[in-house]
This record gives sequence, structure tokens and C-alpha cells, in this order.
Amino acid sequence: MSINVLNSNKNEVTDAESLKQLEFIEQAKEKVSALEKELGRKPTACVVTFGCQMNARDSEKLLATLKLAGYEEVETEDADFVIYNTCTVRDNADQRVFGRLGQCSNHKKNNPHMKIAICGCMMQEQGAVEKIQKSYRFVDLIFGTHNIYKFAELLNTCLDSDRMIIDIWKETDKIVEDLPVFRKYPFKSGVNIMFGCNNFCTYCIVPYVRGRERSRAPKDIIRECEKLAADGVKEVMLLGQNVNSYGLDFKDDDPNKISFAKLLEMVCEVEGIERVRFMTPHPKDFSDELLEVIGKNEKIARHIHLPLQSGNTEILRRMNRKYTKDDYLALVDKIRRDLPDVAITTDIIVGFPGETSEAVDDTIDVVKKAHFNNAFTFIYSKRTGTPAASFEDQVPEELVKENFDRLLKVVQDEAKEQTLKYAGQTQRALVESVNDHDESLLTGRLSNNTLVHFPGSKELIGDFVDVKLLECHGFYYVGELVK
Ligand code: SAH
Ligand code: SF4
Ligand code: F3S
Repeated sequence: MSINVLNSNKNEVTDAESLKQLEFIEQAKEKVSALEKELGRKPTACVVTFGCQMNARDSEKLLATLKLAGYEEVETEDADFVIYNTCTVRDNADQRVFGRLGQCSNHKKNNPHMKIAICGCMMQEQGAVEKIQKSYRFVDLIFGTHNIYKFAELLNTCLDSDRMIIDIWKETDKIVEDLPVFRKYPFKSGVNIMFGCNNFCTYCIVPYVRGRERSRAPKDIIRECEKLAADGVKEVMLLGQNVNSYGLDFKDDDPNKISFAKLLEMVCEVEGIERVRFMTPHPKDFSDELLEVIGKNEKIARHIHLPLQSGNTEILRRMNRKYTKDDYLALVDKIRRDLPDVAITTDIIVGFPGETSEAVDDTIDVVKKAHFNNAFTFIYSKRTGTPAASFEDQVPEELVKENFDRLLKVVQDEAKEQTLKYAGQTQRALVESVNDHDESLLTGRLSNNTLVHFPGSKELIGDFVDVKLLECHGFYYVGELVK
């Protein structure tokens, strides 16, 4: 489903760089219109997104530029312009991109006008760019995460040239956010509050490909939320790799320096915004102030995603997570005590170097004690350039698989048990879409992030409704509207 609403008003764009990019869109328009004449039909564009919500938000900007330039959005990769927005957090994300790129080259053979672009986190790695230069010569444009705001300019260069254009920046201190956006959902939106990460967990590539932490000024974030609300958005998700580090990069005497909890409070005050989510907090600095703000504000979703990664204190130390098993459990206890209706979900990695089956037992113990509503479990993936990649005690694949399956079973059992607790309750759901498998059903999301499917007409999409939760099917519910 993709109902798109244009959220761009030229008068409101103040930043000089954004204005420059809007001019480039005008120039691209002429080129796309010439192409339209040549083809005898409207040129098409497809944006393929991998990775996290921050990439999804970036893709909404890429799509807006393409649509404003005159392309028609399609979902298939035989389009006239295809762009891959990549992720490199795990090796399988990389492999998927290369597989798709390979297939795309066949389309290009049939359509000489076709342009293929690739951007995002993977392009911040020298090895990946070299591989494309060597083995994927048919790619027309490569750029990275730091200069994604220049897409309109790069699009122009690419439309003018037959050569491979490569523009990668090592880092940036710039934040350019005031760009046109084509939202996937008219009623909900991500809002970037900060970029980059300073934590350097030893397994993680993100700090290398997204750079150091840079927070947006509170007034810019609030202004964006107000604009979104005026445009019909009811739910926002504040995005950052570590949202509770928000503002720490501002100088002490900078009036912009406010805590994440304070920012959250300010966002809740925006009229029209009815639900506020945030992703991702780091357990090491989850403050009492934040708990208090969540407790006081009904608008804040009853869901906290709190990545655990491992339940073993020694592995956590080697991961550079800066908390112990007991610290994590104490935080969960505090959350449960102060906010009993909050659902807690998590991320877990299995197979980090040196991880024994006993260490995985500790993780399983935390899963049981924390009663996670859901957990994303990942097999450790060695990322070149990260400290853990050179740790000597990499775990044999078979042992990883065995431990992973053991953990997954407990995670699933626990998730089912937690979800079952809502049976019979009536809760507010934001109706997001028609059900993927059954057109007579709608799909809504509860404050605690659980999905519910229920009979209803599609006019309700984008509305908050009360739904009675009838049947629990593991992670989701089937319910009925309460009139
Ligand atoms: N900033 C967020 C998460 C970013 S990446 C945080 O700190 O929680 C999302 C998830 O990918 C992480 O939580 C972690 O569980 C997983 N991940 C990151 N690097 C990984 C790697 N090298 N191998 C396997 N999983 C990884
Ligand atoms: Fe990666 Fe750790 Fe930063 Fe999350 S906090 S992005 S896991 S380095
Ligand atoms: Fe992937 Fe980049 Fe997000 S590596 S998880 S898309 S920040």
C-alpha cells in the first residue's frame, strides 16, 4: 500500500542548501520531460530500501525528488530509474543488494535509457564501492549517507552523463533536513532527531558509516512535527541510533541543549499529534526523567524497544555495551514498576566472538525474566573494520546455529505468553492498511506496537479506533471494532 502525500511547500523551505536542491529538481524536470517525449510515456522510478527506519525515511526523500522531477513511482525494478538505498549492518544485507543489482542489469540490457543508482550505508565502505566499480560497471550513480540531501543535484549529473558518477563523503557536520518528502503513509511519519552514533559497540558498523552524533535543534524538530500534523499526520516516531544521547553534542551553554525526555515532552505538546514513538534508546542511559515523562504523557506509545544484545556480562563488556546483566534487569524492573502497561521488545545477537553456550544461557535467563513482548534475534555477522572482526575466538557456525535455535524457542514462547495477556481487552488502534492477505480485514497498531486485524472498511485507514482483542495468534490479534 502506498498512498503518498506531498509534504513540500516551497515557501517553508528556508535553508539555502534545500533551496539549491529544489532548483536542481526544476532542472531535472526538463530532462525527464525530454525523456518522456522520447519514450512516448511517463518515465518510471523505483526506490528499493534496505535496513532501518532511518533509511526508510531517507528513501521517502529520494522518492519525493524523483516524483517532483516527473517520474512515476513503480514498485518493480524494470523502471527507467532504479535506486537501491542500502544497509550494511549484517553481511546478508550486503548479499541481498548484490543479488538484486545483478538481476537489474538484465533489465538494463532491454532498456538502454535505464539508470541504476545505489546509495546508503553500504556505500560508505570502500570495499563495497570498489566491488561495484569492478564487477557492476552498469551502475550509473553511487553516493553515500552524508550527501544524500544532494540527490537532486546528483540526479541531474547522472541524467547528463554516460559515465559512472561516484560521490562519497567521509564525514559531515552538516544537517540538511528541509527537503521534500513523499511519505509512505499519510497519517504517520518518522522524524529524525539525531544522526550518527558515538557508541562504537565492537560488532557494529553503524558509527563508521553514519558518522558522529549530530542532533537537530529542538525548534527544527518541533517545526517539522507541526508541519506534519498540519498535513494530517497523527503519529510520529522520533528516530536516532541512540535517542537518549539526544542533545549531548550541543555545548553546555547552548540553549538548544535539552534532554531527550524534555524533547519528547515538547513533541507531545504539538496539537494534532496523537501518538509519539521513539527508536532506539540505549539501556546505558535510560534516565528516570524519561520514565517520568512517559508515565505522565498518554500520547507516548506504551512500547519501549530496549536492545539487550547479550545477557552475559562478560560478552556485554567485550561488546562495549557499558551495562551488565544485572543493570539491564534492574532497568527492566524499574520500567515494569513505573509503567506496568508498557511492552518491552529487544534485539539480541547470537554468536559474538567468545560466546559459549553458558553465555547464551544468561541471555535466555534475561529473556525469561524480562518477559519481552518480542525480540529480534540476529546471528553475529563479522563486519570488516570493527574491533570484533579481529577477535580471535570467533564461534563455529554449528554452535551458533544450535544456540540461536535454543534462544529463538524461548523468545517465541515468551512473546506469545505476553501477547496473550491482552486477550479480551479493548484498545485504541491506529488503522494502517487493508490486511495483506484478506481484503475484508483492516490492520491496526496498538499503542504497545501489537498488530490487530479486524473487519472494517478502508475509509477508516488513518483513524484511531477502539478494537476489542478477541483471538491471539502468537504475535498479533484478530479483533472487532467497538462502536
Ligand atoms: N542503534 C541501535 C541499533 C542499530 S543496528 C541500538 O544500538 O540498539 C540494529 C541491530 O542490529 C542491533 O541492535 C544489533 O542487534 C544488530 N546488529 C548490529 N551489528 C550487528 C552485527 N555485526 N551482527 C549481527 N547483528 C548486528
Ligand atoms: Fe551500533 Fe551500538 Fe551505535 Fe547501536 S549503539 S548503532 S549497536 S554502535
Ligand atoms: Fe543499516 Fe545503516 Fe540503518 S547500516 S541498520 S541502514 S543505519
